[in-house]
Amino acid sequence: MTKMKTIDLETELSLFKYDALEQLPQMYRELRKKERDERIAAAKDDLGDDVIVLGHNYQRREIVEHADFVGDSYQLSKRAAAADAEYVVFAGVTFMAESADVITGDEQTVILPSMEASCPMAGMAEALQVDAAWAKLTAAAEDDAEIVPITYMNSYADLKAFCAEQGGLVCTSSNAHRAFEYAFDRGDTVLFLPDKHLGENTAHRLGMADSTAEWDPWDPTSKDATAIADADIILWDGYCQVHDRFTATHVESVRDEHDGARVVVHPECRREVVEAADRVGSTATIRETVAEADPGETWVIGTEVHLAKHLQRWHPEVDVVPLCGDACMDCNAMRQIDPNYLTWVLEELAEGRERNVIEVPRREKELAGVALERMLEV
Ligand code: 13P
Ligand code: SF4
Repeated sequence: MTKMKTIDLETELSLFKYDALEQLPQMYRELRKKERDERIAAAKDDLGDDVIVLGHNYQRREIVEHADFVGDSYQLSKRAAAADAEYVVFAGVTFMAESADVITGDEQTVILPSMEASCPMAGMAEALQVDAAWAKLTAAAEDDAEIVPITYMNSYADLKAFCAEQGGLVCTSSNAHRAFEYAFDRGDTVLFLPDKHLGENTAHRLGMADSTAEWDPWDPTSKDATAIADADIILWDGYCQVHDRFTATHVESVRDEHDGARVVVHPECRREVVEAADRVGSTATIRETVAEADPGETWVIGTEVHLAKHLQRWHPEVDVVPLCGDACMDCNAMRQIDPNYLTWVLEELAEGRERNVIEVPRREKELAGVALERMLEV
């Protein structure tokens, strides 16, 4: 079995990895919408084919309106890979911009408009914690038992690189089951990071729910590592605070309030929520579900609230209801991409200045690229 060796990668806390990124200058802080829209359009016009603006489905309306493409994290990485533009302005969170940098060519530059846009779940699997867990679990695994690490796209590039080095790969919410199959073709146990809910939901999909165990990275001595390493699937105890909030009771109440409503949820939701829903899938699947609905149907959306709001606007013929009603949460990482930041980075680019560049270190980039390529193959 491959033994963990401490690899030559960045190990400081990921959340602070990009602390050199710049803050919004004062003169951009109070722009009005009309002026801002005009300035964004003018900067994009100036830049022409040299720039593409990619936006995640959870971005606010004022950003989505200026994006050249809006999609889920898998679609966005494919779009970044296919882009010819010199500049990819990524309206999303740090791990997505990192993946775009890994996938795009050396002559292309990825810009993340705001330095604050760090997904808390990605920060729940720090390289140091993963190193420590890997050492314990591989030592505890039975003689020839091979552990294959899989990391969800929602993780930093150093973890993706680690997975590649250990024979593993990356997955998104739409292909996690295929990534698990890839891993089980090559090893005995999957270590899935960082989202325990996506891991558990995937285990159910594959009929393997009875052989999972959880690894608590904050209290690694709380459980017997040998017993955990014996499981077929080891789930890292991370989660998304937006999706973790939904409960089966929310689903029950919304069905009581909306006769005949159907419910579609993201696989980052708890198992009980996925079981209570009618459909589960990535943000792209949620969009397709509403786009394909017949007029008059009611669809309840169990994910970040901005996507529910976009769907209400894009499909007025369908009754679109957010799963938690007014209490439905937005993602505080995605929210950091303020349209004033977008104006600033685009105007600076039009003037020939690059701001808030995301640049993954070379070795990490090569390895993370391997993990992403394996994902694109499954
Ligand atoms: P998607 O891959 O479905 O776009 O989801 C990304 C995400 O961050 C969900 O919380
Ligand atoms: Fe991260 Fe959750 Fe926000 Fe997605 S919704 S970017 S997983 S915090």
